Amino acid sequence: MIAFSDVTKSYSVGTHALRGVSMQIEDGEFAFLVGPSGSGKSTIIKLITGELKPTSGTVHVNGYSLERIRKREIPYLRRTVGVVFQDFRLIDTKSVYDNVAFAMRAIGAREQEIRERVPYILELVGLENKSRRHPTELSGGEQQRLAIARALVNNPSTIIADEPTGNLDPARSLEIMSLLQEINNLGTTMLVVTHERDLVERFGKRVIAIDEGLVVHDGTDGYYRL
Ligand SMILES: Nc1ncnc2c1ncn2[C@@H]1O[C@H](COP(=O)(O)OP(=O)(O)O)[C@@H](O)[C@H]1O
Ligand SMILES: [Mg+2]
Repeated sequence: MIAFSDVTKSYSVGTHALRGVSMQIEDGEFAFLVGPSGSGKSTIIKLITGELKPTSGTVHVNGYSLERIRKREIPYLRRTVGVVFQDFRLIDTKSVYDNVAFAMRAIGAREQEIRERVPYILELVGLENKSRRHPTELSGGEQQRLAIARALVNNPSTIIADEPTGNLDPARSLEIMSLLQEINNLGTTMLVVTHERDLVERFGKRVIAIDEGLVVHDGTDGYYRL
């Protein structure tokens, strides 16, 4: 579960990125996080991953209290939260297979587990025939599938995606969003930041809208039609 209670975040005097955000995302939920540029979406993501601490208020993520988490606990928190970025952040010198395997090796998984798990995950995202390719040999949509595979491989309970379709054409964006929905259907909690109004409307999921550091809408009743 993700729970923000009256969270503020100021970067420096005068930059009040979040001004009292409260919201709760239950295990297994799918929610879109929308809002104009500069409204505070990435700040919310960084508070969830422990990259930032709140200025005030409380942030609970999968059993951890982020306002008072210890540095040595953060790697354990991050095993529960897979992150997908707009710019993919893949390792170009490694194959598709090794990009995913690397994420498992980083947490000390055994080679036997890696050999079983990586092909399963590559099949889930539809890259089973590309495992020996390198990221530069993939299309944008395939690169984003690989980034999703890497985020998933350590079996996190939650996936956070910050503008995952920002660099993709509309058809590819729809495929990626459908893949995130399939993963959610398998039980993973999903929080997706996006500007793509058409996609948000099409999926009919919960929409949390942020503006100037405040939640201005939260519901499943078609935010863009209000
Ligand atoms: N590291 C930072 N230092 C100072 N101000 C920042 C920093 N990161 C973001 N901000 C400011 O905080 C506000 C929210 O930013 P952000 O969370 O990145 O918004 P979004 O992701 O919705 O575009 C903006 O005014 C932005 O300029
Ligand atoms: Mg952002």
